[in-house]
Amino acid sequence: MLEQAVKQINEGEVVAFPTETVYGLGADARNRDAVAKVFRLKGRPADNPLIVHIAKEDQLHDFAAEVPEAALKLTRKFWPGPLTLVLPKKPEVLDIITGGLPTVAIRMPDHPMALDLISRTAPLVAPSANKSGRPSPTKAEHVKADFGDKVLILDGGPCKLGLESTVIRVDQNEITVLRPGHLEPRQIEEVAGIPVKTEKPGSTESPESPGMKYSHYAPNAEVRLRPDLPDRIKNDTLYLISRDIDMDVEEPENVILYAGNLKTLAVELYDRFRQADLEGYNYVEIIGLDESNQGGLEQALLNRIRKAGGIV
Ligand code: TXA
Ligand code: MG
Repeated sequence: MLEQAVKQINEGEVVAFPTETVYGLGADARNRDAVAKVFRLKGRPADNPLIVHIAKEDQLHDFAAEVPEAALKLTRKFWPGPLTLVLPKKPEVLDIITGGLPTVAIRMPDHPMALDLISRTAPLVAPSANKSGRPSPTKAEHVKADFGDKVLILDGGPCKLGLESTVIRVDQNEITVLRPGHLEPRQIEEVAGIPVKTEKPGSTESPESPGMKYSHYAPNAEVRLRPDLPDRIKNDTLYLISRDIDMDVEEPENVILYAGNLKTLAVELYDRFRQADLEGYNYVEIIGLDESNQGGLEQALLNRIRKAGGIV
């Protein structure tokens, strides 16, 4: 299967592959037509730029014109891993990748299949392998549900993190989190040695990360946030309970308990969204997340859930 994937990428085709975060829809970052196919297949707006995925540290310099010392420290510590750096781009980076922006987003994914594929082909642009607006795919079957037989899918099993990478812009003296993820601002600041600020969720009118303004991650079921479990459990709702709560009775099958294990909730969130649609639920309610908790996985989860629910 890998042989075939290598061949298809080299022929300018699109291939879906696993990463540690979500599945990506990959194409050769040096081939304009191949990159254009990714936009077409996803139905993605042209002003929403793509992340370039690399397999070796030095490939960073093929795309980024300037790499501040703080960025190098971060790559040494966190790559391969769920961290995307936005840096000034080299002039030769294709405009179609960056949506005309002067910057380019780059990451090294932490998955052997992804690294193998990139090593044997080229740096790959790879948005999440879902149709635009749908929940990101964390299993090969999710990619199949969105694209059928239109793309070859390298099946690497379920993704181990389940939420997309943390996207940061690295300037000389400051870092800005453009999309929260598993890696927390605190961890980034410790390693980078310069201050990390977070974009406010409301500042999406002139977003620094263009993708953040589009509706995203959404199942057909309506997604809601709630502080507590309601008095009456309804049959048309799938409940995801993040906190440790007492239930007097054994929980019905539409109540999923995470007991404070947010990592598991992150791994399963998009799969649960898709399950809700397959099983015909009208609502998905995520219960007990603490909105006052700044940074960390909780913020990343809230960010995706708010977007999925159109909650401002
Ligand atoms: O974990 C991930 O990052 C996954 C896997 C497949 O690697 N990829 C992913 O790609 O989530 P995508 O295209 O679904 O999201 C990329 C995000 C978007 O919000 C986009 O706007 C932002 O990164 N982005 C890309 N290039 C940018 C740039 N030059 N400046 C600011 N934001 C950028
Ligand atoms: Mg996406």
